[in-house]
Amino acid sequence: MKEVTSKFTVSTHYDRRLFEYDIAGSIAHAKMLGKQAIITQEEASEIADGLAQVRKEIRDDTFPWREELEDVHMNIERRLHEKIGEVAGKLHTARSRNDQIALDMRMYAKDAITQTLGKLAGLRRTFVKRAEKSLDVILPGYTHVQRGQPVLFAHHMLAYFEMFSRDVERFQQVYQRADVMPLGSGALAGSPYPLDREFVAKELGFSKVSANSMDAVSDRDFLLDLHAAAATCTVHLSRLAEELVLWSSAEFGFIGMAEEFTTGSSLMPQKRNPDFAELVRGRSGKIFGNLIGLLTMLKGLPLTYNRDFQEDKEGTFETIDTLLPCLEVSAGMVETMTLRPERMRHAAQESYVLATDIADYLVRKGMPFREAHGVVSELSSHAVKQGKFFHQLPLSDYQRFSKLFDKDVLGVTVDASIAARDVPGGTARNQVEKALVVAKQALGK
Ligand code: ARG
Repeated sequence: MKEVTSKFTVSTHYDRRLFEYDIAGSIAHAKMLGKQAIITQEEASEIADGLAQVRKEIRDDTFPWREELEDVHMNIERRLHEKIGEVAGKLHTARSRNDQIALDMRMYAKDAITQTLGKLAGLRRTFVKRAEKSLDVILPGYTHVQRGQPVLFAHHMLAYFEMFSRDVERFQQVYQRADVMPLGSGALAGSPYPLDREFVAKELGFSKVSANSMDAVSDRDFLLDLHAAAATCTVHLSRLAEELVLWSSAEFGFIGMAEEFTTGSSLMPQKRNPDFAELVRGRSGKIFGNLIGLLTMLKGLPLTYNRDFQEDKEGTFETIDTLLPCLEVSAGMVETMTLRPERMRHAAQESYVLATDIADYLVRKGMPFREAHGVVSELSSHAVKQGKFFHQLPLSDYQRFSKLFDKDVLGVTVDASIAARDVPGGTARNQVEKALVVAKQALGK
């Protein structure tokens, strides 16, 4: 039983990855204690030097991790003691593991967000590049996975650019909320020593200090926000992944996935499966699960610190460790896919995507839109019965449904349809070009 109980509380195997933050936090704390004459300057530098040695050992992978010491904090403190002796015991003056772990997780979150923003920038740049190079490519835009209206492929790419730009905003907001320095909160009530909290914040690159010690040791909102932002971003990634899976199927045939992002089937030799897109889509489950896990773990916890908080880590690490490669792989897939513009155009032309434009044609001739909608719906049924598309019907067929139809109705084409949508946010080339300029500005190039 002893073995079970001692193992039960251990977190060393996963929280050891916080060592850089933990040591940076301790060095800043020790410096501050020295500066404030809470310990002597010599003691402060001895501690800081010792911590630097410990850090080197961990970086070099020569550090003797001991599970039984429970967590990253105790492992580092014990090793510091072995290196510099009794004075090591002074480091924990005016500090608790409660404010220490809050600090570590905030520093981790800030780093994770910075990395995520880097990957998001790469992905957004990829959409812009693809959009720029495909201003002549048209495809059907879909609703209900039914061909709806023709659009520029570039417009479709920039739709994703918008989604991921909102993700950037979300992560930036989370960054601001994580960017609050909790040390000085002690176990929960603050500290009886004359601390300089602003100094510590500055040393560690935080823009402010926490306002309430009780909140500071028990707030994990910034992690919830991180999970929520990651989950929304994952929704976007999995929608993209799904579209790539559909587009690369023989049924659509709009794109070819680069070989490096496909895998052969072990049984069916003809197949190249879009496994990477599927895995991006499938890994969303973990990220959503971790959000729900954290919400559930936090609900109903009384102030202030509770050991339950220890359970915030694995899910958080898993979410970020999952999200970063998904962002990278998604950018890779979009960057390397080959387009099949003729297949896309064919799908737009051999369809009824011009129905709205034909109704709009009648509207321009004075018919109320609702009535025009009815006329075109009858015209469509007629065309379907004939096994023809609009452009294959003679003018006389049109005129059976409305006398307002004239020769110029044959000028309603997918290209004309796209060109007509010349409102801000529309798919007309000229609008998409403007959107591209704005997108490039947002990316800072
Ligand atoms: N491993 C703990 C955690 O992750 C560190 C803080 C422990 N504090 C305590 N009072 N037991 O939350």
